[in-house]
Amino acid sequence: MDYRRVARSGQVPEGVVRRFFLDGVEIAVARWAGRVHAMSNYCTHLDCLLSSGHATEDGLLCSCHGSVFDYESGEPVTPPATRPIHVYPAREEGGEILVLLPPEAATADGPRRRRLDHGRREATG
Ligand code: FES
Repeated sequence: MDYRRVARSGQVPEGVVRRFFLDGVEIAVARWAGRVHAMSNYCTHLDCLLSSGHATEDGLLCSCHGSVFDYESGEPVTPPATRPIHVYPAREEGGEILVLLPPEAATADGPRRRRLDHGRREATG
């Protein structure tokens, strides 16, 4: 498992969140205080896209109902979300943003409907 390039550093300025795809997995990349953070792009409350939100001092803000998720743990620090989002290790090198995506991210992440569909297919074989 290696860090993989997802974007140029300049594509994610300070305070901004952008959406990228890596191996078909949709991820949100945010920058706060100079550091980049990568996470699932789906809010665990009602699946709004976190790339429509904002990077804040407290974490990534979902624009739909105001949940904020901690950059490091993915835990919600502000309701209404009660479950954490997936966070992925991210770093910068040579002007590029690199993310380490675990293999299980392809099936463990995404909108609730897709996760449920995947579980049903596995259950029925
Ligand atoms: S969908 Fe994100 S807070 Fe409701």
